[in-house]
Amino acid sequence: MEITKAVVDAVNIPVTVKTRLGWDENNKCIVDLAERLQDCGIAALTVHGRTRAQMYTGDADWTLIGKIKENPRMHIPIIGNGDVRTPERAKECFDLYGVDAVMIGRASFGQPWIFRDVKHYLEHGEHAVPFTFAECMDILREQVRDSVEWLGERPGILHVRRHLAATPLLKGLADFRPLRIEMLRAEKIDDLMAILDKIVEIYG
Ligand SMILES: Cc1cc2nc3c(=O)[nH]c(=O)nc-3n(C[C@H](O)[C@H](O)[C@H](O)COP(=O)(O)O)c2cc1C
Repeated sequence: MEITKAVVDAVNIPVTVKTRLGWDENNKCIVDLAERLQDCGIAALTVHGRTRAQMYTGDADWTLIGKIKENPRMHIPIIGNGDVRTPERAKECFDLYGVDAVMIGRASFGQPWIFRDVKHYLEHGEHAVPFTFAECMDILREQVRDSVEWLGERPGILHVRRHLAATPLLKGLADFRPLRIEMLRAEKIDDLMAILDKIVEIYG
């Protein structure tokens, strides 16, 4: 709390906080904490519906996130987070818990188009026409380029590998294993791009 207040006082830009429900099962203090954080002057609060002790086990529990929103004293935007993997679940989280936004983490690994898919579903109540294989590959290639541009060649490639490894797009392709190994071992951007081009040529 003191750290948050000190940061809010020290800077001239909006300060936001992201935290969990509490330390463990017996200390889920988030509803009270949210109010106190708001009193520190933060601009928005994101809550991951797990405790620290849970790490990533069990399911995210959104009920306390909903309780924060029910508190009439709260007025800053509340962003709910945890296990949102589909457009339907995103909509459900808005509807059931009244959050101002949802944050998506792991479900974006290897499918950054999930943000478009969720947005479309929320706005239109139906699924977007799925991107084609080639369009998805274009997006992944852009992600690789951005990663290298922002982080540099080696760190950028190391960073983006987990996204390429996780992408559902390349799951279950016939005889993909050797190319997958090449893709996840490439150390130069030109080599990696050439492999991605080859994947489009073969499977596109
Ligand atoms: C690789 C990885 C790195 C993360 N780094 C951070 C971080 O730096 N700060 C943070 O608040 N949460 C971090 N998180 C937690 C996520 O932001 C998020 O709260 C959590 O994954 C639950 O949301 P999800 O089910 O949508 O993934 C990280 C999660 C993963 C998987």
